[in-house]
Amino acid sequence: MSAKTPAQDQRADAASSEREVLEREVLEREGLEREVLERQILEHEVFAREVLAGLSKARKSIPCQYFYDEAGSLLFEHITELPEYYPTRTELAILRDIAPDIASRTKPHAALVEFGSGSSLKTEILLSACPALERYVPIDVSHTILDSAKTRLEAKYPYLRVEPVIGDFMGEVKFPADLNGLPKIGFFPGSTIGNFDHRAAVGLLTHFRALLGPGSRLIVGADLRKSPDILIPAYDDAAGVTAAFNVNLLTRINRELGATFETSKFEHLATYDIAAGRIDMFLVSRTAQDVEIAGHRFTFAEGERIHTEISQKYAVEELQGLAEQAGWTIRAAWTDPARLFSVHEFAC
Ligand SMILES: C[S@@+](CC[C@H](N)C(=O)[O-])C[C@H]1O[C@@H](n2cnc3c(N)ncnc32)[C@H](O)[C@@H]1O
Repeated sequence: MSAKTPAQDQRADAASSEREVLEREVLEREGLEREVLERQILEHEVFAREVLAGLSKARKSIPCQYFYDEAGSLLFEHITELPEYYPTRTELAILRDIAPDIASRTKPHAALVEFGSGSSLKTEILLSACPALERYVPIDVSHTILDSAKTRLEAKYPYLRVEPVIGDFMGEVKFPADLNGLPKIGFFPGSTIGNFDHRAAVGLLTHFRALLGPGSRLIVGADLRKSPDILIPAYDDAAGVTAAFNVNLLTRINRELGATFETSKFEHLATYDIAAGRIDMFLVSRTAQDVEIAGHRFTFAEGERIHTEISQKYAVEELQGLAEQAGWTIRAAWTDPARLFSVHEFAC
């Protein structure tokens, strides 16, 4: 056998380091795929546990974060375009007005962290006004919606690093390690804060403060208290999209947990408690019936309700009071001229 020439040696070295890179990539990808699978199994277990626990209570309920499977996310997008659904277009208008002000107070190399980012459409208003935002961390339970937002935003803002986190913003959130030390702005639009009662909202705002760290700011969109004549149609539209969104929860439970809900035997109901300033959504059993879920039987009386969502409405000062209890300092609050919706800025 003849000795290798230096060029052959070089090629062999290059080939072996290329192989090492590929092997490392395969291992990393296997690790990632395993991580995704393990997470999906865990999420499925938690979903089953929470549905069974909620339907076992004297007043049956299902947590509202389960609305957002793929169909639910699309239906929600549709809701935001309905004439009766004022919150999205009103919040968008406020954000367009205030974005230059927010941008003028944003330090260079800042990161925007969005809790429950959905399609990240409102985010674009802040990103466009504020090139100092160089990192964007959208957090959502729906990975399909995160994937498409990342592709769209990275194409539109080539300097922006989009680093989605799939998961529950109420739990531990694993931020990219090098986010530490960067100025952070938390973003919580869409009146998602309204899905929590007052105590839970204080807990959530405290959790966000701990996640974002000292020196951070938080922008929160919150729906204002107003007449039921405006509120009820927003949660029970004439085209029946909100009803379809609510009933889709049962379709999801059938598909993912092997349940036997006959969706046509449940109807959508939205109520407003003026004193509490709170919308509640329910699925109401049209008839006496039994439903099986994962080997468990649940009995429904005619007219019995499953509670599926609260949407708490806040006067500006009410939400500010909760933010102060959570350790935030009040920076600003903006509303639209008709006082339908509010956007708040807090700091810590
Ligand atoms: C009402 S949408 C708002 C979307 C967007 N922020 C906006 O304002 O247009 C709520 C979003 O929060 C997500 N979400 C709800 N609860 C969540 C939770 N506990 N953890 C992470 N994401 C959540 C849903 O998947 C959904 O995309």
